[in-house]
Amino acid sequence: MGPLAVLKGEHALFRRVLDSMDLCASRIERGGNQRDLPRFVLLLRAFVDGWHGPKEEKALFDVMVRHGFSATTGPLPLMAAEHMEAHRMLEMLATLIAEGRMEEPSKVRMVLQALRSVEYLLRYHMDMEEAVVYPAAEAELPPEAIRMIEERLKAGERGGRVDITGGAIRRLAHELQILYPIPTLPALAASA
Ligand SMILES: [Fe+2]
Ligand SMILES: [Fe+2]
Repeated sequence: MGPLAVLKGEHALFRRVLDSMDLCASRIERGGNQRDLPRFVLLLRAFVDGWHGPKEEKALFDVMVRHGFSATTGPLPLMAAEHMEAHRMLEMLATLIAEGRMEEPSKVRMVLQALRSVEYLLRYHMDMEEAVVYPAAEAELPPEAIRMIEERLKAGERGGRVDITGGAIRRLAHELQILYPIPTLPALAASA
């Protein structure tokens, strides 16, 4: 599997996490238990700050810049700015939850609204990378650059602002997906 396919696979994992998070948020809106909310926020922070985001910046974006892509205009600085925006939003969200008072309906509404803002940003961001950045890398980078990305992805499994491995992220994602299962399309068709 090439390095861009690896990154797309991480996006696919994360889209499923966002689907489960959406289900969790809907249950909380209907008065459901809030206990898993901090674990979803931890997972989002791990993805943005500790695993996928830093790997993209250090492996993919940096190699693209070394091969002629602009670091100051166009998609790469936009994607890096969105990583920072998601980081700030998630810091704020974690602080809001840690403050407590989650029994107050107005506080719960604020937290869920903030959660959905991050979700929207991350979904748009991943779509943009897959529509613009990854295809540009695949079309324009020479084979030695693709190999360099591959090596850096392997070396960069940890070391971001949140120190967590891809394995730990996958385990937590799996646990939460069991608690908040999203029906597959065939299952939906069968129940119709
Ligand atoms: Fe990204
Ligand atoms: Fe990404």
